[in-house]
Amino acid sequence: MAIRRIAQIGHPVLREISREVSVEQLRSDEMQRFIDDLIETMRDANGAGLAAPQIYEPVRICVIEVRNNPRYPERPNIPLTVLVNPRLTPIGDERFDNYEGCLSVPDLRGVAPRHAVLRVEALDRHGAALDFVARGLSAGVYQHEVDHLDGKLFVDRVVRPSTLSTWREFERHHQASATEHARAIVARYGS
Ligand code: NI
Repeated sequence: MAIRRIAQIGHPVLREISREVSVEQLRSDEMQRFIDDLIETMRDANGAGLAAPQIYEPVRICVIEVRNNPRYPERPNIPLTVLVNPRLTPIGDERFDNYEGCLSVPDLRGVAPRHAVLRVEALDRHGAALDFVARGLSAGVYQHEVDHLDGKLFVDRVVRPSTLSTWREFERHHQASATEHARAIVARYGS
């Protein structure tokens, strides 16, 4: 396993539409090692998720894990999930304001509206089908990561640029209200 470099905003790889992965490719040793690297790189950087194009491989794979994350103390835990060729389908019309940051967008946070309830269909790292419903803050993480596979960054989703903030100013001026907002979302959607 290896910790890879993370592409930064402005690099064209972050704007590519990533390609689908066949089950045969997925099961290769090379792709399994790649997924291990993606997980290790996410954990090393304290990310809540990481998508393959962020480590310069435009394939439709992303990993998600929230485990008492110091970058996102307001977020409930999400067990390690590997999504291959994911498809998200919103359930209902509800949206919520999600405070986001990204390892490819240094020192910036902002509010992006996201669907509150989603169906998530994907393959797991071994090629088995996944099909589940994600809600609230977890749904926000899934949308952020799958956006990366379509060449989109959270800054493209920020409707009110006045919500943009460095991490330092976020902690000083917005953390308290964001934590309260996050608690309300968790209370409403269960995650
Ligand atoms: Ni990101």
